[in-house]
Amino acid sequence: MAKADFVRVMFNDISHKYDLLNDVLSLGTHRLWKRKFVRIALKNKPKTALDCATGTGDIAFKLKESCPGQVVGIDFSSGMIEFALERAKASPLPVEFKVADIQNLPFGDKTFDVTTISFGIRNVESLDLGLKELGRVSNGVYILEFGQPKNALYKKLYFTMLRMYVPLFGLISKRKDAYEYLIASSETFPSGQTFVDIMKKNMTFKNYGFIPVFGGIAYIYYANNEGK
Ligand SMILES: C[S@@+](CC[C@H](N)C(=O)[O-])C[C@H]1O[C@@H](n2cnc3c(N)ncnc32)[C@H](O)[C@@H]1O
Repeated sequence: MAKADFVRVMFNDISHKYDLLNDVLSLGTHRLWKRKFVRIALKNKPKTALDCATGTGDIAFKLKESCPGQVVGIDFSSGMIEFALERAKASPLPVEFKVADIQNLPFGDKTFDVTTISFGIRNVESLDLGLKELGRVSNGVYILEFGQPKNALYKKLYFTMLRMYVPLFGLISKRKDAYEYLIASSETFPSGQTFVDIMKKNMTFKNYGFIPVFGGIAYIYYANNEGK
């Protein structure tokens, strides 16, 4: 099975438990990371935003609290988008959601002030194509993604701890392979300056940088023409 099909089916399968899984697995910390991420993405006061791999829409709703213009969330899992649409119905914030693939975004060049993607880029089949598309449709790109802590002991402790959760995840999601995929992809996905260099290769912005979160368990990356 191609990576894209595996990822799409996996997220469709766990979509009804995705928010619960996030809270359990991260012990709630994903909310703090996402808040910090959105604060950084909003620094240059964008009016419009596209949140890619939006899942159930966490980041899109947070962006809309400050963006006066159009905010759209896209994901290629129709299961995830169904939950995002349910949330949109119950929310006073007008956020649009669509099923779409990051590798072929259905938007013209520079449609949005910013694009964001939280815990999604690691899953995209062609990283180069995904990054090119994120940069093409906006004037600034903000990425939150897992990586590896630089400190060797911390890194070993973190990944050992992560592996201890496997049975719990299998119990809740009924997809043990999804969790195994999360660890394997987080352990090997390029992070820090290595990832910034890949962004530079695929985008044409002036400024690039990264901010480690929790000592490098995750990273916030940015690419824009205005500073952080
Ligand atoms: C771990 S979830 C992240 C969801 C949300 N952004 C969050 O932070 O909670 C990853 C999401 O990426 C989506 N995804 C993976 N590859 C994609 C692609 N090529 N195009 C669109 N969505 C994709 C999956 O369907 C899934 O909903």
